[in-house]
Amino acid sequence: MSQQFASRPLVIAPSILASDFSRLGEEVRAVDQAGADWIHLDVMDGHFVPNISYGPDVIKAMRPHTKKIFDAHLMISPADPYLEAFAKAGCDHITVHAEAGPHLHRSLQAIRALGKKAGVSLNPATPISAIEYVIDMIDLVLVMSVNPGFGGQAFIRSAVGKVSDIRAMTAGRPIDIEVDGGVGPDVSGALAAAGANAFVAGSAVFKGGTVESYRHNISAIRDAAAAARGEMV
Ligand code: DX5
Ligand code: ZN
Repeated sequence: MSQQFASRPLVIAPSILASDFSRLGEEVRAVDQAGADWIHLDVMDGHFVPNISYGPDVIKAMRPHTKKIFDAHLMISPADPYLEAFAKAGCDHITVHAEAGPHLHRSLQAIRALGKKAGVSLNPATPISAIEYVIDMIDLVLVMSVNPGFGGQAFIRSAVGKVSDIRAMTAGRPIDIEVDGGVGPDVSGALAAAGANAFVAGSAVFKGGTVESYRHNISAIRDAAAAARGEMV
């Protein structure tokens, strides 16, 4: 079962939301050195989600600190007026929420027109049918395994079944399946076996506060996922 999923590379994407904001550049460099594949950037507007984080100017300031992929997760509504600013700030992936606006297809067209990879995120209560008619426009699906807005929440188990359903729906397409919220080495194996290949982790990566602990934390998530995919660790 595991081999069929092995075509999409395994990716660990630390969420900067859990880092020390007073030392953002240093924290980005630390997770880069510690083995992060992508840097996950959680943008919150206090409207679509009940919290406010940071925007394009802060992302632009982080950009010179790493060459790794900037994976932006926009928890904002509306998103369309800000897509260009996130592209210019250096984001490589721009993910919008299916629930954030009435014209998802238009948002995805706009992201691709900016030359960026287009992602769609689904809240825990949103069925996968929300992406059925935009599947040709999607490079990445971000499955929320918590209700978005805060780090450090408990993993919602129904995300595992949702990942398998999305894997079946996207079979044969070059689409990354990324999971976000409460992800650690305790669940990355089950998620990988279900077909997820990208793992966002905030608290599980940044605990410990040093490059050595980040390296250890990233490896633990990666090793559990790789083992479930039948890959050597
Ligand atoms: C939640 C964010 C997540 C969050 C993950 O709204 O989208 O990326 O930072 O943090 P943990 O891994 O602590 O749940
Ligand atoms: Zn996120």
